[in-house]
Amino acid sequence: MFSVGIVGTGSYVPENVMTNRDFEKFVDTNDEWISSRTGIRERRIAPKDMPVSELCYQAGLRALEDAKVAPEDVDLVIVATITPDYVFPATACLVADRLGAKNAAAFDLEAGCTGFIYGVATASQFVATGMYKTALVIGGETMSKILNWEDRSTCILFGDGAGAAVLQPVEEGFGFLSFELGADGSGGELLSQPAGGSKYPASLETIEKNLHAVQMAGKEVYKFAVRIMGEVAIKVLEKAGLTHEDVDLMIPHQANMRIVDAAVKRLGISPDKVIINLDKYGNMSAASIPVALDESFKEGRIAEGDTIVMVGFGTGLTWGACVLRWRKAGLKTND
Ligand code: ACO
Repeated sequence: MFSVGIVGTGSYVPENVMTNRDFEKFVDTNDEWISSRTGIRERRIAPKDMPVSELCYQAGLRALEDAKVAPEDVDLVIVATITPDYVFPATACLVADRLGAKNAAAFDLEAGCTGFIYGVATASQFVATGMYKTALVIGGETMSKILNWEDRSTCILFGDGAGAAVLQPVEEGFGFLSFELGADGSGGELLSQPAGGSKYPASLETIEKNLHAVQMAGKEVYKFAVRIMGEVAIKVLEKAGLTHEDVDLMIPHQANMRIVDAAVKRLGISPDKVIINLDKYGNMSAASIPVALDESFKEGRIAEGDTIVMVGFGTGLTWGACVLRWRKAGLKTND
């Protein structure tokens, strides 16, 4: 079995910035409420004609360039998203095609905001066993396309973006040290986009009832998130034989600053080791963690040998975490 690490990262967010004040024009809310209750100040919104595959393509391209990997050398493309271009075909197939990754298997993975963690956990199994040498994992969302813009309790929370990582074998002792994944479908209805699938196919009624938009029981999701984030971070560190004192950097899912604060307190790590991007991007679902990872690396916040904990929760309900010992150089293996 090979050790598997991240040897390249990339991200992309749309140019259009939407501030809290912009919402004041069409829903009963204000900047003070949004920033004090969530920590969010602004988010990026994709143009109407920009599907998620475009964001994923841009992020994937940058990650491949960063890793110095040619598209035809990619063996696997996974796109984690809850806002695919189509119900089918998979967005991963469209992105692989645009990248020129013609030798890659490609599929989508749906685990909401935990999608990127599920994605790297899945891809790393293929690389660890030697079945594949190079995997590209992308978390991308256009949440703006599935929001009810009249519902102030949800439309203010989300943003659009994509982040990507290239996985390859790395020197032993580096790369992913542990994973922890979980799911509880009994909470599935707490956060969903009910219509458009086989239970409620699109109809006039589903449109009139706004069932193609995000429905969320905010308080219940909040309580679940506060409990699970701390728990899963502690578990994944234990699995790696580490404690909170070994953590150099924590990248939590970016849903609400109060959720992050509670998890950080529970874990007992210093807040200056925690990466925050929700103030400028809102909750980008599966894209939040990989965008934060890419920007942290590019800003020089990650050094060789650093121990990084990434932890997320999301619709499903799902949760997941991983411990990564940073080493960007891939191992030279004989094909
Ligand atoms: N502006 C002004 N007032 C608002 C707004 C708003 N945007 N939204 C809600 N309110 C009001 C409510 O109507 C309520 O008014 P009332 O007391 O008169 O009924 C009051 O503010 C308090 O509402 P709460 O829901 O209790 O507010 P809370 O402090 O719980 O914050 C929030 C709501 C931000 C949604 C919070 O519950 C939260 O962050 N939940 C978790 C959401 C989350 O993490 N989602 C992502 C999941 S990940 C994925 O897979 C996509």
